[in-house]
Amino acid sequence: MDEIELVEVGPRDGLQNIKQFVPTETKVELIRLLVAAGFRRMEIGSFVSPKAIPQMRDMDQVVAALGPLPGVTAMALVPNSKGARRAFAAGVTDLEMVISMTDGHNTSNVGRPTADSIADLAYLLQEVDPEGKLTLRIGLATSFHCPFEGLTPEATVLGNIEKMLKIRPGLEFALSDTTGMAIPARVKSLAARALGQFGGDASFIFHGHDTSGFGVANILAAMDAGIRSFDVSVAGLGGCPYAPGASGNIPTEDVVYLFDRMGVRTGIDLEKLMAASDLAASLPGALAASHVRAMPRETALSLARAA
Ligand code: COA
Ligand code: ZN
Repeated sequence: MDEIELVEVGPRDGLQNIKQFVPTETKVELIRLLVAAGFRRMEIGSFVSPKAIPQMRDMDQVVAALGPLPGVTAMALVPNSKGARRAFAAGVTDLEMVISMTDGHNTSNVGRPTADSIADLAYLLQEVDPEGKLTLRIGLATSFHCPFEGLTPEATVLGNIEKMLKIRPGLEFALSDTTGMAIPARVKSLAARALGQFGGDASFIFHGHDTSGFGVANILAAMDAGIRSFDVSVAGLGGCPYAPGASGNIPTEDVVYLFDRMGVRTGIDLEKLMAASDLAASLPGALAASHVRAMPRETALSLARAA
């Protein structure tokens, strides 16, 4: 295997956890630097309640200022069908609907139990998107661990995937370690079971956080199980404001650096990526947490190039 897909989620998962408002033009600049670094799929923000996440209150302006991004899939997160309507109106048709696998986190995050979100997904597909214009990925939050309910049983996740595939076959699912408490063995196990049961009818991506330091190891474990797409966040920014104790996402530059050295193609230029990382890390309120940022820059770049 010599190629994998990295999906940058910093402009959404990274920024949503920063209290200080990041001006629209800075958000746009960050997204443009990430496109220049080579990303072909990116989460650019979310259509959520501005009361819940004030950072995302300028989503319409971000989309308008960006304009078309040829060759790039610009995806937005939505918490419900209302968010999907707003996205649709703004011209965004690649969506991630977030649905937690535990009622505790789903209620904390989007104000209702998991089953109600799945019912809203069915409504969204039938009523908001009767012509099938949306591309939908489901963010299966708390697939491994919930801050309110502890470890998530694999059967719960698999059962929910089955229900959603009955609503629309072919969906993409992000197995999400929202709190960053998963260990590689559990990531590999759930990824293998999901691919084994539904691989013919659905695609899967792994979305991790680095709270316990296993983020990169979890990506390798998901890869062992056969997953080829991974969410990452520039400078390791990120975290769910509704998951107490969770910290940043898996840093993009650490993953790109590792894959460069392994000879696995990601399509991302590490040197250009570091320009985006520098901007992300400089944002007031940002907590940068990448290992590559802590390395001598020239050493990191030359080792990555040498591979
Ligand atoms: N975008 C903007 N506004 C929305 C919305 C959306 N997608 N969905 C609901 N709202 C509005 C409602 O219209 C209502 O407005 P009002 O107060 O002016 O009447 C208000 O938000 C509250 O809606 P309600 O249905 O009572 O739900 P709530 O207060 O439990 O909030 C969510 C539910 C989903 C809107 C809110 O929890 C949310 O946006 N969560 C997102 C969390 C998030 O982004 N987490 C990180 C990513 S995983
Ligand atoms: Zn996340």
